[in-house]
Amino acid sequence: MSLLLEVVASGPPLWRHWGGRLDLPVGLASLADTRRPLSFSPDIDVPVSAAPGFGIDWLGQPILTAHRSGRDFASRFDTCSVVERDGAIDLCLIDEVACLALDMSIALDPESDVLTLSASLANTGDETLDLSWLAAALLPLPDTSTTIRSFTGRHNAEFQEHREPMPAHGWVREERRGLTGHAGPPGLFVMGGGAGWHEGAVHAVQLAWSGNHRLAIERLAEGGWTLAAGAWLAPGEARLAPGERWHSPDLLATYSPDGLNGASANFHAAIRARSAWPGGVMAPRPVHLNSWESLYFDHDEKRLMALADRAAAIGVERFVLDDGWFTGRDDDRAGLGDWTPDRAKYPRGLGPLANHVVASGMQFGLWVEPEMVNPDSDLFRLHPHWALRIDGRAPLTARNQLVLDVSHQEVRDYLFGALDVLLRALPITYLKWDHNRHLMAAGGSAGQARYHTQVLGAYELIDKIRAEHPAVEIEACAGGGGRIDAGMATRTHRFWVSDNLDAVSRVAIQRGFLAFMPPERMGAHVGASPAHATGRTQALAFRAATALPGHFGVELDPATLDDPARAMLARWIAVYVSLRDRLHQGRTWLGEEADGVLWQAVGSPAHLLVFVTRIEPPAGRPGHIRLPMLRGAGTVRVRLIETASSGAANTGGGVFDRMAGDGEGYSGTWLAEAGLPLPPMSAESVAVFALEAV
Ligand code: GLA
Repeated sequence: MSLLLEVVASGPPLWRHWGGRLDLPVGLASLADTRRPLSFSPDIDVPVSAAPGFGIDWLGQPILTAHRSGRDFASRFDTCSVVERDGAIDLCLIDEVACLALDMSIALDPESDVLTLSASLANTGDETLDLSWLAAALLPLPDTSTTIRSFTGRHNAEFQEHREPMPAHGWVREERRGLTGHAGPPGLFVMGGGAGWHEGAVHAVQLAWSGNHRLAIERLAEGGWTLAAGAWLAPGEARLAPGERWHSPDLLATYSPDGLNGASANFHAAIRARSAWPGGVMAPRPVHLNSWESLYFDHDEKRLMALADRAAAIGVERFVLDDGWFTGRDDDRAGLGDWTPDRAKYPRGLGPLANHVVASGMQFGLWVEPEMVNPDSDLFRLHPHWALRIDGRAPLTARNQLVLDVSHQEVRDYLFGALDVLLRALPITYLKWDHNRHLMAAGGSAGQARYHTQVLGAYELIDKIRAEHPAVEIEACAGGGGRIDAGMATRTHRFWVSDNLDAVSRVAIQRGFLAFMPPERMGAHVGASPAHATGRTQALAFRAATALPGHFGVELDPATLDDPARAMLARWIAVYVSLRDRLHQGRTWLGEEADGVLWQAVGSPAHLLVFVTRIEPPAGRPGHIRLPMLRGAGTVRVRLIETASSGAANTGGGVFDRMAGDGEGYSGTWLAEAGLPLPPMSAESVAVFALEAV
């Protein structure tokens, strides 16, 4: 991609281009001279700039709004200095009248084609400034844009995709729950006319932020739209004393001419570049067994050891002890805050279980929910004022818990100490870090809103744990996928995508996840049948094949399976282990074909794994899937390596039988244009192909 900003004599640079790659240098004036004021508008032209203010000559959405006791409500940055450094532009903007200094940074990573944009505002006046909005960036969208692709969600139904036309007026996503939310990252995709999975212009953004946020698209009277994104601020949340500065989160923004898959591939590359793996490189993603759905709160040392044995026997590599292990935690009404092993369940502490897990050849992981407290806990009895609250209003529990004000150093110190003791005493190499409620009545001790500081406090706590325990990986969870975003992606290593393990529900949830995040971050487990979240029943093979492209795990007790089923699960684990290096690098493509066929390809054109999923029974004859990345790839050997079905077996025959074993050679261009012929697939089935250029 290229972006082009025109530096002007006074004021912020003007947006001239954010889109396809340009072959600069050419004369700017000939590129984009729009200096033609419209009728019924000011006598000067006011094109979209990088930092439009409010209340003077710009009538579109502003980069910020602020005031001082009702005065200084208007802003315009007449002075701007531009510093270029290694693929980045820094803007220092000054409004001498409103006494504001705005620094903006725009950095383009040529590897991923992703921009990182941010803004920070200083109050240069001598009275307090009330900031009510500061966008990380304000970007232009072309007048050829047609569609917004965004996501909504709730617990057990994350990443529900929506496509809607560009607005005649405005489009807003505002999150005021204090958390990223189950809709997934604060982000969206804007598709140009004719854009689809594989082709066409797509602009996309996601905020690296785990709290309240606002994404807004507004129609410009003269055509096109502006897109602004930043943290949503509660009243009084951002009051800047003279000299004080306020920072926006980073906004990741990308453009691709290669459709939705092109934009997602850029995001995947950017997230990979922001990853901080223990030791600097991602180790193969180990197979998990997470204890939650096997026994919920019903722990005892012997049972857990037996579960660990059964896990090790089928090839599990990391055993995660979920909720229920700490003092007083017999159900979800008590215990959060008291991070010591429950002596009734673990009379000898967690050491024997953790050592048993390690001795069985597995890593030991532990569930925690540090930012939370149950009113029924020793911590709350000792420090009731550590919880967020609003004086004069009854505290509002959710899942029987309150939220600790982690902006306070003493609260963070307590939590760090509690986790540090566990991490030092036990061979823990993994934390599942949960956050099981929204922020409501989230006031601090002085009565001010605490949403924003809560996110910064949580980041600080996680960063400190990581700095002190660099070998420990962290999974971000918030009742499933309530905190999946690029802010958490830089400080954690896996996302728990959803508590909904129903494999049919999972198909859409996981495809939504992959819009923003790469597959190696996608916690995907084989759950029980019927699924605890939905009550629906699916075959083990279909559940396993659906989880296979992510970071694979198991969320059931192998003892509940009969011998053949247990052997089948062990076999799927072995399949995952044999494929994971290929599943977790390279590109991901998603596609859809007629008659409800969904597919996902991972790798490179020379070396591809293709997952074809059918959820509903077919209406017609088996079709083809067109794999555009193989155009011009020469001869490609196609092998059908796995089939997984809930109902009648896939009855291939003919060409499909030939795809089994050593496979069959096809022309890459044929596979791109005419497509790979599919085996007949029943409802709830997956076919996995390996494709190699020969
Ligand atoms: C959340 C998580 C689950 C589990 C429970 C434990 O709901 O999403 O995976 O850890 O909390 O209480």
